[in-house]
Amino acid sequence: MSKSREIYVCQNCGSSAPKWQGQCAACGEWNTLVAEAPTPAGRAAARTRSGGARSDVSSSLAAEAITEPSRLTTGSGELDRVLGGGLVAGSVTLIGGDPGIGKSTLMLQTAAALNRVAPVLYATGEESLSQVALRARRLGVGEATARLVAETALERVLDAAAASGARVLVVDSIQTMYCERVDSAPGAVSQLRECTADLVRYAKTSGTAVLLVGHVTKEGQIAGPRVLEHMVDTVLYFESDSGSRFRVLRSVKNRFGAANEIGVFAMAEHGLKEVTNPSAIFLSRHPEPVPGSVVTVMREGTRSLLIEVQVLADASLGANARRVAVGIDGNRLNMLLAVAHRHCGLSLAGQDVFANVVGGVRLGETAADLPIVLAARSSLADVPAPQALIAFGELGLAGEIRPVPYGEERLREAAKHGFKLAIVPEANVPKRPPEGMTVRGFTRLRQALEAVAGEFARS
Ligand code: TYD
Ligand code: MG
Repeated sequence: MSKSREIYVCQNCGSSAPKWQGQCAACGEWNTLVAEAPTPAGRAAARTRSGGARSDVSSSLAAEAITEPSRLTTGSGELDRVLGGGLVAGSVTLIGGDPGIGKSTLMLQTAAALNRVAPVLYATGEESLSQVALRARRLGVGEATARLVAETALERVLDAAAASGARVLVVDSIQTMYCERVDSAPGAVSQLRECTADLVRYAKTSGTAVLLVGHVTKEGQIAGPRVLEHMVDTVLYFESDSGSRFRVLRSVKNRFGAANEIGVFAMAEHGLKEVTNPSAIFLSRHPEPVPGSVVTVMREGTRSLLIEVQVLADASLGANARRVAVGIDGNRLNMLLAVAHRHCGLSLAGQDVFANVVGGVRLGETAADLPIVLAARSSLADVPAPQALIAFGELGLAGEIRPVPYGEERLREAAKHGFKLAIVPEANVPKRPPEGMTVRGFTRLRQALEAVAGEFARS
C-alpha cells in the first residue's frame, strides 16, 4: 500500500483526516492521530451505494411479526437484571472496565453457567489456555467450562464459533483481535471497528449472543472511539471504588432493557459473588448518630438504593474557602449552598465544605439536593440528624422543593431498612405511607429546615 493512500484516524473519537495534525479537529484531543489504511469495508460500501439494479427491500412496520427476543439466563440474577432479563440471542454486548476489575472473571463464570443451557465458546486473546483453565479451576467451574480458544485472528475465532456450534461467543478482549483485511495493529480504531462490525454481522446472521470485553482508557471510556458503543446492542460498565471489593455493573445502553440498571458483586477468593441487598453496603451505619450525615434513596434503573451523603463544614484557613465534592457534581454543590444561604440564611462563608458519598458511588440524581443541604446544616450546627431519617427532593433556585420520580418506591425501600421518618417533597407524600414510617412533605426549603431543626434537636 502506498503511503499516499493512508489516512489519519483519531484514536479518541474515530474521525479521520487526510494529513497528520497535532490536534484532532473533531474532538480537540492532542497527539491522537495515527496513520491507518482506509478500511476495505468503507470502499465496498461506497461501491454498493453508487450502482447496481434497485429493488425494494423495505417493509412496513405493521407487517412485521413481533416476537419477544429469546433470552438465556446467565446463572447470575444480578447480571440478568442488568441485561434486562437475560442474554438475548443474536445480541452483542460490550463489557468495559479498568484492568483487573474482574471482567475476565465475570465472563468465565458466566460462560460456565451458560454452558449448562447452551454451548459457549470463550475466545481469549490475552491469556493462554492453561491460564484460563487454572483460573476456571480456582473459580470452581473447571468441569462445567465452555469450549476455549486462544486466538487473536478474528476470522479464526468466527470459524471456531461456527464449527463448535456455539450459541454464545465470549471475546476477551476486543482490543486484542485483528481482522486480516485491515493493515493496522490490533487495538487501532479501524481494527476495532472492523472486528466489531464482523462480530455484529456474525451475531445477527447466526443468532449467536456475543459478549465483548473492552478495556477503558484512563479517562474511563472504552478504548477506541465511541463508535464501538454505537455498533453494539448493549454496553455495560464494570466499575468499583479503588480498594473496595465491591463491583458495580451498570448498563449505560441497552436495546433490550432499561439503561442505568445496576448489578452489585463482591470480589471474593473464589470469584465474583452476587450482592442481593446492596443498600446495606452503601451505608456506614455509625453506632452513634454523627453530624453531617444524611441517608437518601437513589434510583438506579428499576432499583432503589439507600445511600449516605456526608458533608463536612470546617473553618477555612486560607483566603478562599474550598468546596470539594466527591461523588456529587461540584457545580451542583455550589448551587445548593447558594440556595441554602440566600433563602434560609445558612451561611457557610469562611467555611471549607467537603461533600462525599459513602461507598464510592456517584449521585447524579437531583433527588440528592435536599439531603445534601440537610447534611450541610447538620455539620454546620454540629448536631446529628436522627438515625432513622431519610430525605430526598430536588431544590430549585427559588428555594422550592420539587418532586422527584418514584417517590413511593424510594419510601418503601427506606421503610424496609427500618427508617422511620422521611423528609420529602410535598407532592411525593403517598396517600398511605409505608407501615411504621412518618412521611413529612414540604414545598419550601425554609420550612423543611425549620421542621427538621426540631427533629435534629430531639435526636
Ligand atoms: P480479571 O478478571 O483478570 O480482571 P480483568 O479481566 O477485568 O482485567 O480480575 C483479576 C483480579 O481479580 C485480580 O486482581 C485478582 C482478582 N481475583 C480475585 O480476587 N478472586 C478470584 O477468584 C479471581 C479469579 C480474581
Ligand atoms: Mg482480563
